[in-house]
Amino acid sequence: MPETVLVTGGAGYVGSHVVVELARGGYAPVVLDNFANSTPAVLPRLESLSGRPVPWVNADLRDLVAVRRVFHDHPIAAVVHCAGLKSIDESEERPLAYYDVNVGGALSLIEVMGEAGVATLVFTSSSAVYGQAAALPVSEETPPSPQNVYGRTKRVVEDFLRDLARANANWRIAILRCFNAAGAHTTGMLGEAPRGRPSGLLSLLARVAAGELSEIQVTGNDWPTPDGTGVRDYVHIQDVAQAHLQALKWLADAHGAITQNVGTGRAQSVYEIIAAFERACGRRIGQLTAARRAGDVAACVADTKRAYEALGWRATRGLDAVCADTWKWQKSGGRL
Ligand code: WQD
Repeated sequence: MPETVLVTGGAGYVGSHVVVELARGGYAPVVLDNFANSTPAVLPRLESLSGRPVPWVNADLRDLVAVRRVFHDHPIAAVVHCAGLKSIDESEERPLAYYDVNVGGALSLIEVMGEAGVATLVFTSSSAVYGQAAALPVSEETPPSPQNVYGRTKRVVEDFLRDLARANANWRIAILRCFNAAGAHTTGMLGEAPRGRPSGLLSLLARVAAGELSEIQVTGNDWPTPDGTGVRDYVHIQDVAQAHLQALKWLADAHGAITQNVGTGRAQSVYEIIAAFERACGRRIGQLTAARRAGDVAACVADTKRAYEALGWRATRGLDAVCADTWKWQKSGGRL
């Protein structure tokens, strides 16, 4: 019997790709999602890509009664916790909502896991916990210094999980600091499908290339970087999903909490990303220089050493695949 794994946020961008990788890796995923920024339309695609039924529950993590029912109804052995709000801009405007959903949701999940005796957890954290590091690439030893509300909610949950693992040796927790997850499933069947306007650079570029948006606003070309635009580490969403699978496998023989970067180690500027996307779609992309966004940093790139040494994971896809798959997803509608 395959082990049952609950994927919170399993209908979302990261979660949906995680569900497929887990199923292909021999697990039986169950989706929990409140569809706040996703749609049940993804579920048949998850089943078809997984090659197995994918049970799902429409519930909010902060609803303890509903979450208890999920653990009662399914033989859950582990949890991958991807659910959360993820827009940096929005987090600056709605801090209460971000703490409530991201921190409150994690507390509620852990409470029910404790009651149910389920102690294996992979948590999708973010490179946003680092803020602007003094030196690049950023290793897991770099002290977190998040510069926006979103990043601070992730740091609070991380601290809580490490405290939990220190207090009780039963917990097996992997904290994955995902850098800029980008791209789409290579089949073109899954991708970022937000309810409103996308926030990630690649998704915005795809909409500009398709004529749905008039131009890309380059949010600052006066950063202290080689070409003045923001530098990031863009990691293909299927590589991100594979990191979650590897972390879960790794936890079978581990105790305590481990913190891992999930990035490629490659530094790419906004101008470089625009040029790569133009090559992938064969179109010119209109651009404007705009003001810096609140809460943004100049540069953030992963040190990938520990993830490879500990989990045996490293990204296998590069920027060309990120751009090609984002464009494929956009051409198939870019929505669910
Ligand atoms: C990338 C670069 C912008 C939009 C955060 C988190 C990360 C992940 C994604 C959650 C920056 C520039 C962007 C635009 C632009 N978290 N940009 N014009 O903010 O690096 O990462 O969100 O899921 O963990 O840290 O991602 O794609 O918004 O921005 O010029 O219209 O593109 O300034 O340099 P970010 P992003």
